[in-house]
Amino acid sequence: MTSLALFSLLYFLSVLTLTDSSLSSISTEPPPAASKCTLLNSFQPGFVVQGDYVIGGIFPLHYNLKMPVVNGTYRPPPINCNGHRLFLRAFRWAQTMRLAVEEINQNPVMLPNHTLGYKIFDSCRYPLTGQRAVLSMLNGVNEENSSMCTNASSLLAVIGASGSGQSIVVSRILQSFRIPMISYASSCACLSDRQKYPTFFRVIPSDDYQVKAIAQLLLHFNWTWVGLLRGDNDYGRFAAKGLLRELQETKVCLAYQEMIPLPYNHQAGLRIIKVMRSSTANVVVVFATAGDMTPFLRDYMTHNITGIQWVASEPLVTASVFSGREYYPYLGGAIGFGIKKGHISRLGDFLQTVNPKRYPDNVLVHELWESLYGCSPFPSSVTQMPPCSGQESLLEQNSAYMNTSSPRIAYNVYKAVYAIAHSLHNLLLCQPGRGPFQNNSCAQSNNIHPWQLQHYLQEVNFQIAGEEVDFDSKGDSVPYYDIINWQRGPQGNIEFVNVGLFDGTKAVGEKLLIQEDGIMWAGHQSEASCSHCVFTFIRCQLLKFCRLRWR
Ligand code: TRP
Repeated sequence: MTSLALFSLLYFLSVLTLTDSSLSSISTEPPPAASKCTLLNSFQPGFVVQGDYVIGGIFPLHYNLKMPVVNGTYRPPPINCNGHRLFLRAFRWAQTMRLAVEEINQNPVMLPNHTLGYKIFDSCRYPLTGQRAVLSMLNGVNEENSSMCTNASSLLAVIGASGSGQSIVVSRILQSFRIPMISYASSCACLSDRQKYPTFFRVIPSDDYQVKAIAQLLLHFNWTWVGLLRGDNDYGRFAAKGLLRELQETKVCLAYQEMIPLPYNHQAGLRIIKVMRSSTANVVVVFATAGDMTPFLRDYMTHNITGIQWVASEPLVTASVFSGREYYPYLGGAIGFGIKKGHISRLGDFLQTVNPKRYPDNVLVHELWESLYGCSPFPSSVTQMPPCSGQESLLEQNSAYMNTSSPRIAYNVYKAVYAIAHSLHNLLLCQPGRGPFQNNSCAQSNNIHPWQLQHYLQEVNFQIAGEEVDFDSKGDSVPYYDIINWQRGPQGNIEFVNVGLFDGTKAVGEKLLIQEDGIMWAGHQSEASCSHCVFTFIRCQLLKFCRLRWR
């Protein structure tokens, strides 16, 4: 008994001394490891080109994320998002960035005697992996090449990210280094807060405008009893909140509000379907991307639900993955606001140059081939795909990759790269003694700080294909949307037809322009659905009345 007590006492003392000595070593001199800069993980860029000034690009190139189990008992393996689910549309966006940089480098008038370089990373369509992308972009590939180990990053600006949740994370990291970023797709109104996101810019309108436009559309068609569906992300959350705010003082009532969970879960999906079925609301507003909708839509179609008039939000209303004829009975007639489309004259030709012969070592280009042709130019035991030459012709206009008929997000990417190039060009034109910085100084061309570029980005104003590009004080750009309606095409597939516009710069009452006779409604009818039928109308108004009184 005594020996046990003695042993415990000795053990207790030894633990204390150990703890004590380790504590004193922390407080006096740093452990040797702290002075050495070591990368804890390495994540490679998808495409890299060296240049005098390097910009980063973040795109959701894959979307089937496999999360490792994190239980704190072992070091988790890297997140695997490199399945064979290449997001072809985003791959095209990334190539558009490469094209824009190439064009600028070939242009003798723009940034003469200087070249732009880039590092393009995969965000895997998820905030956590977006964080990994931006950290890898800042860190470099290994310790030797990493300027972050010794001084400031050589990265001047970043194009990205896609989803708002990813941009929030990326912005929080980049702002510490005062590196500006331009998003081509993140539309959450929350990102207009300059205090929280001081280096954030975007070439897509804030959802503040989209929800105003949708509220006006609902009122225009007298749709006063509507359901609301949203994705499980910041975009869906904030957009739904914004729409509710816009509808507060109107006669429109919400019949229900549901969220498609991420990861998708069949049971939750069935519950939502039950709610939709039992509700008398046949107009449903949805704030989700095609990725959020895909698994839900599978269940929705299995249950053969028709007759819903969808009001589709911006990422969905131009989602070509749903344009097949099998979707028409379920989604036909949908209406919504799509961002402005543009024209990139060299895009089609440029996309054709991306093939495994030209990029034999690029894993992403191999995956592109596997996705497009179901075969592998360099077969391995992992892919188990039949072999092919790698010289197959990239002419399938229907594939999401080669679809260059009306680029919208790709056009945004293009604009964003040009915005950086114009800003950099103006920065380099600065005359010593007449510059915008301290004592009228200019930036030094061989040592430009990202915050100096941001100054020029804030002021930039240029024309691209006759369209003016600039940013307001919050980093936002012009609020303009096309109204798009999903109509049946000659082959029974869905076609996205322009039936109007919303111009946020116009006066109240003049913003929305709709060509009503050009619209095809759900169920292939040519008249608006019956959400304004007498019974639901009275019920809705009563509810609204009560809610307003008891507030
Ligand atoms: N607006 C969405 C967000 O902020 C992102 C988005 C817009 C998007 N258009 C898209 C994503 C098209 C994928 C495809 O999160």
